[in-house]
Amino acid sequence: MTKPITILAIESSCDDTSAAILQDGKMLSNIISSQKVHEQYGGVVPELASRAHLQNIIPVVDQAIKQSGISKKDITAVGFTRGPGLLGSLLVGLSFAKSFALANNLPLIEVNHMQAHILAHFIKEKDGSGNPPPFPFLCLTVSGGHTQIVKVHDYLKFELIGETIDDAAGEAFDKSAKLLGLPYPGGPLIDQYAQSGNPKAFSFGIPKVKELNFSFSGLKTSILYFLQKQSQQNPSFIQENLNHICASIQHSIITILMNKLEKASREHGINDIAIAGGVSANSGLRKRLKEMEDSHQWKTYIPPFSYCTDNAGMIGITAYYKYLINDFSDQSVSAKARLFI
Ligand code: KG4
Ligand code: ZN
Repeated sequence: MTKPITILAIESSCDDTSAAILQDGKMLSNIISSQKVHEQYGGVVPELASRAHLQNIIPVVDQAIKQSGISKKDITAVGFTRGPGLLGSLLVGLSFAKSFALANNLPLIEVNHMQAHILAHFIKEKDGSGNPPPFPFLCLTVSGGHTQIVKVHDYLKFELIGETIDDAAGEAFDKSAKLLGLPYPGGPLIDQYAQSGNPKAFSFGIPKVKELNFSFSGLKTSILYFLQKQSQQNPSFIQENLNHICASIQHSIITILMNKLEKASREHGINDIAIAGGVSANSGLRKRLKEMEDSHQWKTYIPPFSYCTDNAGMIGITAYYKYLINDFSDQSVSAKARLFI
């Protein structure tokens, strides 16, 4: 019997320290330690993130190995996030991966975080189940730092066909939440309050942006002016209308995303549509996408919640496909804060 391909994967690009073990593309463990320290600052503080990664990395890896049921000597390669992300945060994961690979004489595999968000769709559960999209498909990748539409030709063949020209969709959620006095990250809270609000209560306008690109900075400004004006008339406006405001903000962000996704599907003649990244955990976006199956004959692919936000499982599956084509890195590899898909 041939030895299974067992990957130890490390993710540390932002404020989640994560380690996973995958065997032949099947997820055996996926441990995520989210850093709470940033909540009080309204955003990720890079220096605090690096320090927290340093504290978390060894216990997280230890737990991932223990929970997977494998032993350290079964590992065949180490995958890690090379970028994009916060340099100090990336360096912790990269240094750990390099040392682990060197000490155990294992090949090292660098992974692009944005490719990994997309390939999360190919993670198989322990029993071999999964819901992978067929090639080619379109993927809307929406996270705290990126908003992209990618045409995915094959496991490791990506074509960027649209992206944001300013803020990312996750930033639009988080910055709007901050204006409402909600803690970081505000995206999941807006989602929660929106459940019982009217999405058409307030409207904030949809920007006109060329081609398949996005813009969210205008939305943020119009929400700011709207809240200032309303709060002048009624100082408890936000408190009294939080659900409706959140539902309306979420509706605007989703409309901006879906308009361009629909255009991309039409122009490229592709009806297999996936979403990925932290914002793909949004219940409103997931619902709108599902509705497109009936109205537009789309077949949609929505990852389980735990594979949407940053996790090492997605790094592991990408490393697995790179392993299959012997795409290894050497010990001189450096972290890259900016890395294109
Ligand atoms: O992919 P991710 O975990 O990290 C980055 O690579 O950026 O995405 C984090 C982003 C944050 O902006 C967070 O507010 C947003 O994803 N997010 C959500 C939801 N869950 C996470 N936004 C809206 N609704 C959610 N349920
Ligand atoms: Zn991410």
